[in-house]
Parts: sequence; C-alpha cells; structure tokens
Amino acid sequence: MSERTLVLVKPDGVARGLVGEVIARIERKGLKLAALELRTADRATAEQHYAEHDGKSFYGDLVDFITGGPLVAIVVEGVRAIPAFRQLAGGTDPVEKATPGTIRGDFGTEVQYNLVHGSDSVESAEREIKIWFPNL
Ligand code: CMP
Repeated sequence: MSERTLVLVKPDGVARGLVGEVIARIERKGLKLAALELRTADRATAEQHYAEHDGKSFYGDLVDFITGGPLVAIVVEGVRAIPAFRQLAGGTDPVEKATPGTIRGDFGTEVQYNLVHGSDSVESAEREIKIWFPNL
C-alpha cells in the first residue's frame, strides 16, 4: 500500500553536497518525490519536529544544528515508503548502527551529523508532513 514519509536532508548533508545522492537513492529504490523544498528552518519548526526529544541531553544542540543552515525537506511517496527510506538511511549512529551501502553508513561518522531524517511511523509521518508542508 502506498504511503508517505517525511525526509530531511539535514544541513550537514546539504553543506556536503549530498542532496543529489540522497534523491538518486530514493528514486532508484522506486519511491517518488511528492514535494520538495530547500529552506532554512526556524526554531519553532525545528522544536515541533523534534518535540519528542525535548528534555534529552542533545536536544538544544540538535535544534541549533537543524536551524543552522539550509536543509531540503522532501515528502516521499510509495509502497512501504516509511520503512523503505529508513532502510536506505541506515541506523541513527552512522558508525555503530548504519551499515555500508546505506546513506549514513556510506557518508557519516557522527550521530548528530547523520545527514538525513526519515519518519519512523505512519503517525510520525502524518505529524511531520503537516509541520513542513501544511498545504499538502
Ligand atoms: P533523527 O533521525 O533526525 O532523529 C533524532 C536525531 O537526534 C537523530 O536523527 C540524530 O541526529 C540526533 N541524535 C540522536 N541521538 C543523539 C545523540 N546521542 N547525540 C546527539 N544527537 C543525537
């Protein structure tokens, strides 16, 4: 069944010139782009997006980082799009969890600078798509 997921190419991914690489992997997997925008997130958007991490030790740094430069927000659509993109991304920690062949495993080293975000459930995807693309 077709579903939608929210993908971010985070500011580190944009700064390193990996936007095309990430989009190519999404498309090669057979998923479609339903919306895409380059923008610098304001704090309110970042805080809403990462609300579940509020109170964690890394939360402040995470919001600073995600608002610190342009990112690319993408709505990705397709069969099993949510787990399919998480498979492409690899585990949160680019060294300890992500394996070679994944975006984080191929290009990342630090857990904070892990290049991409992908929604982790249908509920998260709906919530996050509303935050980034309220008119979709
Ligand atoms: P993401 O999938 O966007 O969801 C939450 C983000 O918090 C995660 O990717 C990482 O960028 C970041 N994160 C998770 N754990 C840590 C940590 N221990 N230290 C710093 N950042 C973290």
